[in-house]
Amino acid sequence: MVQLPVFCYAIIADNRSIAAMKITEALLAEHLVFHNLFDHIEATAPRLKTLAEVKSLAALMESMLKSHSDTEDELFIGPLEHCFEQIGQRDTFIQEHEEIDGNLRKVQLTKQLRRARALLLGAVAYSRKHFDKEERIVFPMAERVLNSKTLTALGQTWMEQRTRKSV
Ligand SMILES: [Fe+2]
Ligand SMILES: [Fe+2]
Repeated sequence: MVQLPVFCYAIIADNRSIAAMKITEALLAEHLVFHNLFDHIEATAPRLKTLAEVKSLAALMESMLKSHSDTEDELFIGPLEHCFEQIGQRDTFIQEHEEIDGNLRKVQLTKQLRRARALLLGAVAYSRKHFDKEERIVFPMAERVLNSKTLTALGQTWMEQRTRKSV
C-alpha cells in the first residue's frame, strides 16, 4: 500500500475519528488510491516506448497491491469465511488476488514491449472487476455480518500494520 511519512500516521493516530475507522472504510479508502493509479496506467501505458517503463509501472502496481490483498486475505477471509462459502466465493476471492499478482509478474518475464503492455493493461482491467465485486458485494456483506466493534477492531489492526510497515 502507499507508504505515508511517519508523521502522517502520528496525525492519524491522534485523530480519534480516523483512529476508529472501520476496516471496510480503510479498504475503500485504499481502493480510491488504486482507482487513481489504474486511471494513470491506462492513460500512460499505451504511450510508453520502452519495456523498462512498462515493467516499472507493473512493479509499482504489484508492490502496492500486495499489502492491500494481503490485508484482505488476513483480515477478511477469517471473520467472513462462512459468508464467502455461502455465496460460493471463498476460493475465488483468494484466487483472484493470486491471478492479478501472477499476471503482473509475467510482465517482468516478457521481452516484448507490446506483450508487456497488454499484460499490464489486462491486469488493470481484471483488478477493476475484482475491486468492483468487493465494493458491490464483499464490503457491504462485511458491514451486514460483522458488528461495528469488530469492524473497528479490524480497522485498528489495519492501522497498526500500515504504521509498522512505514517505520
Ligand atoms: Fe481484493
Ligand atoms: Fe480490495
